[in-house]
Amino acid sequence: MQYDFDHALDRRNTYTLKYDDPGYFRRLAPGIRLDEDTIRLLLADTDFPCAPPITAAMHRVADFGTFGYTTADSTPAYKDSIIHWYDRRYGLKLERDWIIYSNGALDGVGQTVQAFSRPGDGVILCHPVYSNFTGVIGRMGRKVAPCHLLQPAVGDYRMDWEGFEQVCARPENKVFILCSPENPIGRVWTAEELRRMADICRKNGVVVVSDEIHSDIVRKGVKHTPIIDAVDDLSNIIMVSGVNKTFNLMGLHCAYSVIPDEALRRQFQEDYEVGMPTPFAMAGMIAAYTECEDWVDALNQYLDESMELAVARIKEKLPRAKAYVPQGTYILWVDFSDYGCSPDELQLVVNHKANVAVQGGLAHDPEQGGQYMRMCLTSPKAVILEAIDRMGAAFAAYESERGQA
Ligand SMILES: Cc1ncc(COP(=O)(O)O)c(C=O)c1O
Repeated sequence: MQYDFDHALDRRNTYTLKYDDPGYFRRLAPGIRLDEDTIRLLLADTDFPCAPPITAAMHRVADFGTFGYTTADSTPAYKDSIIHWYDRRYGLKLERDWIIYSNGALDGVGQTVQAFSRPGDGVILCHPVYSNFTGVIGRMGRKVAPCHLLQPAVGDYRMDWEGFEQVCARPENKVFILCSPENPIGRVWTAEELRRMADICRKNGVVVVSDEIHSDIVRKGVKHTPIIDAVDDLSNIIMVSGVNKTFNLMGLHCAYSVIPDEALRRQFQEDYEVGMPTPFAMAGMIAAYTECEDWVDALNQYLDESMELAVARIKEKLPRAKAYVPQGTYILWVDFSDYGCSPDELQLVVNHKANVAVQGGLAHDPEQGGQYMRMCLTSPKAVILEAIDRMGAAFAAYESERGQA
């Protein structure tokens, strides 16, 4: 079946975070320009209509006309759909006892931090990495224990094994939050790398929570390996994932944690009350994982093309920027350091002059991210190209003004 990703929905006035709640973004970036004409590439939230079987499932729930307390244990179809998806997409056999419902992948990460560390303990992050992990760690009174990925060539991110071993060896560091694939750099970790990370953590008594919410979005020819498939000794391994990013169902809240080790699973669930799902979450997730595989394949093909187009257009219109096609995710991590701007100047040119909203890199990499921007390619190709053209014109004007000053 053909799907149309070239036409975005007009999502204004539909309770969206992205279009209807500028206050949220102003709290993160005071002074951000967000108006009717702003192209918004700042959130991992796509503007495409969702897969038709999911919409049909929503209709069935709505038409029934009652929306009472709901649980994930009320139907075997919930866990069956997850087991089916991992079998189909990854050749991996999950057991139903391993699966625990959560409202979102981030909730599963938070639940891990709460269960396996105490206030004041360290939680390891390898930057650049998804900024909201830092928020979870801080709100729970834990500290970020940073490690930095190496980048020997543009976009070629590698683990700094020596640095990672050192940070894991500190006794106060109890949990490692791995992002796999890694938002914002798009790195898809190999089975060998995953095994090495897991081994180092296990030897040092560190629990790994692998956030694999972006795992279904990978470039053609790239294979994502779920951590529980790569690693033999799973005594310190928690995987969190969900349908949220793959099918853009964040508003439904349907994610899960997968924990094969029984003792780990018990501790994970102790003293933590997970919010209940809605009937829409249940129905949406089951439809997504059982009826929408071809839609995901079509989306991946579209995103592969968007990535290639965007990187080529950046080379043409923003010749000093360094962009690369990431192995996974729909996120571009672009290095603007050769423009010689401060982080504030970058935001001024991109957001205020070009009227494009993207997220500055410091949120994801407090040490080295000041010259980077995170662009979520969550819109039709034409919108993305227009955003890059606008940025190109704004940088050209900025450089010419600077040259005259
Ligand atoms: C790596 C990563 N984890 C978690 C989330 C949030 O996911 P959820 O809405 O399922 O909590 C995001 C959203 O962008 C993400 O990129």
